[in-house]
Amino acid sequence: MTDSVPPIVSIENLKAYEGELVTVQGWLYAKTGKGRLQFLQVRDGSGLCQAVVFKKNVSPEDFQAAKELTRESSLRVTGVVKADERAPGFPGGYEIDVRSLEPIQVAEPYPIAPKEHGVEFLMKHRHLWIRAPRQWAILRIRANITRALRYWLDEHGFVNVDTPILTPAAAEGTTTLFEIDYHGEPAYLAQTGQLYNEAAIFAFGRVYCFGPTFRAEKSKTRRHLQEFWMLEPEIAFCDLEELMEVQEQLISYVIQRILVENALELRLLERDLTHLERVRPPFPRLHYDDAVAMINRAAEAGEKVPGYDETVPPIQWGDDFGSPHETYLAAQFDRPVFVHHYPSQVKAFYMEPEPGRPEVCRSVDLLAPEGYGEITGGSERMSDPEKLVAAIQKHGLPLEPYQWYLDLRRYGSVVHSGFGLGLERTVAWICGLEHVRETIAFPRMLHYMRP
Ligand code: 4AD
Ligand code: MG
Repeated sequence: MTDSVPPIVSIENLKAYEGELVTVQGWLYAKTGKGRLQFLQVRDGSGLCQAVVFKKNVSPEDFQAAKELTRESSLRVTGVVKADERAPGFPGGYEIDVRSLEPIQVAEPYPIAPKEHGVEFLMKHRHLWIRAPRQWAILRIRANITRALRYWLDEHGFVNVDTPILTPAAAEGTTTLFEIDYHGEPAYLAQTGQLYNEAAIFAFGRVYCFGPTFRAEKSKTRRHLQEFWMLEPEIAFCDLEELMEVQEQLISYVIQRILVENALELRLLERDLTHLERVRPPFPRLHYDDAVAMINRAAEAGEKVPGYDETVPPIQWGDDFGSPHETYLAAQFDRPVFVHHYPSQVKAFYMEPEPGRPEVCRSVDLLAPEGYGEITGGSERMSDPEKLVAAIQKHGLPLEPYQWYLDLRRYGSVVHSGFGLGLERTVAWICGLEHVRETIAFPRMLHYMRP
């Protein structure tokens, strides 16, 4: 063999090819230069690097082609890998001294300019926007969070059981149901996989489901999506305290792993890491009663909510927290805080009441620092069949679709608990994002369903 074809390498692996001739295939992110030099910023999905086209090193046709390349044109460049600390890009440190270049498709004028665009415009072009380095960083972190969550659960004896998306009954209140037509019968997109998880623990002990869940949320907030991904572990022979221990272990593991494995992405996002580095067990635990007292003391003293213009609003015992309350509470601690024993009246029907104090339930929400709010919600489940029937009726729900669920309390009922972690809110927190719309490739929001 005389002519050896240069290997096609990914930008993240350039460092292994220093001094060698390689080919990179990708897209043109940006271009500068004039006269005898063209600087191409090429991205290939694994990273971004500079490819330097020096007129004397390439054929006249290739030099002309480099000059005519437009943003987001697809191309192959072949050249020698050179170490250069100042070379722009990520992971950075290497550039390509180009010897030949092959445009694949010269792109039409690209609608997203390097300047600032409004949110509306970017959302409309989400199919293109996801190519931007910032979105790249966020979505890579998201993928790795998913990997880390699953890894920890798989390593700790949890069995992944997939739960249905087409369901016959409500599980998290009837106001946010997406109703569909199931061959003439009404059905609903799943708000949660929890009830099916509860069946599965009697077969496997510890399970989790992880999939898209749906809520027809009528209000526009920076924390709510219509379609979001929820990780839901469920555990037999587990009470509220053990449930909190599982959560703090899992979440600390994920954060510490992301800090190591996604340091580059976090740097691209200019994330302040001080809060994240502190996330280690144990997390503080705060009783709802004490949380209410804390809020009302702050309200009386006219304290401000961090990051808001307003002062802490007072709260009536029995009411659910608003975002300013959650933000204020979380700001009082140096790591995520568990708030437990919420009033039964603001929680779902299946939560176990506290013995001797049925107006509160054995529930727990985890509030993230820095104003990211509730990222998990969970509880001990009601294990007595009669109490459960009464709770279903009290919530105005029909009994018939829950008969199978009641069977779980008839055949070997045990104390059991579980929680749901909202993936998008977790991504927003870890990445330091203002809004959940950037945490998923194609967000479904109140007024956005396209693309
Ligand atoms: O508190 P939620 O409603 O709990 C449940 O659905 C339980 N069945 C979970 C369980 O115990 N297995 O939702 C859990 C989490 C919230 O803490 C929040 O992080 C997220 O899901 N979440 C949303 N995320 C984005 N958009 C929405 N509309 C969300 N609703 C809830
Ligand atoms: Mg909740």
